[in-house]
Amino acid sequence: MRITAEHGDLTTTPVDAVVNAANSTLLGGGGVDGALHAAAGPTLLEECRRVRASRWHDGLPVGEAVATGAGRLPARWVIHTVGPDRRRGQTDPELLASCFRRSLEVAEEVGARSVAFPAISAGVYAWDPAEVAGVAVRTVRAASSTVSSVEEVRFVLFSPEVLRHFERALEE
Ligand code: APR
Repeated sequence: MRITAEHGDLTTTPVDAVVNAANSTLLGGGGVDGALHAAAGPTLLEECRRVRASRWHDGLPVGEAVATGAGRLPARWVIHTVGPDRRRGQTDPELLASCFRRSLEVAEEVGARSVAFPAISAGVYAWDPAEVAGVAVRTVRAASSTVSSVEEVRFVLFSPEVLRHFERALEE
């Protein structure tokens, strides 16, 4: 599994699956969530509504992940995951690790060979980007031996500052 970090925008990243930093409602929001829905078009929200109606009636739990199509995005799938929200006292790193781990497991289930992640919880959910980078890199590295069909993981960071945290984490 190749693991890299880059400065970029998930809405234009040409991978099989992009991971959305969603909220439990799966009905959109700001940040990555808002950008992906805007770029994917209305079919993404329609699919998310169907996921809510068919399986996650009370919303997607923190740390869980679910795949939908990707509408007009270059990717084939969007894997929605809900990061821990520091503002609500959700400070357990295992919750954040679960986002990365479950997203890779879902990627393997759908057959995605390349996956792009944002810095989950490092925006609105107010986690320290350096801590997110450490949890993300450690978790993806640990999963690489079990999630064998995923060949490439790209951390796509929206700012040079966050990219630097991921580059440092990858050097460790
Ligand atoms: N591509 C890549 N990264 C992006 C993009 C983008 N287009 N837009 C924002 N980001 C970055 C942010 O700069 C931040 O570093 O993604 C990281 C995660 O930030 P958020 O999108 O705010 O996600 P999060 O902190 O997990 O909060 C999730 O915010 O947008 C709402 O509906 C969402 O309620 C949920 C909450």
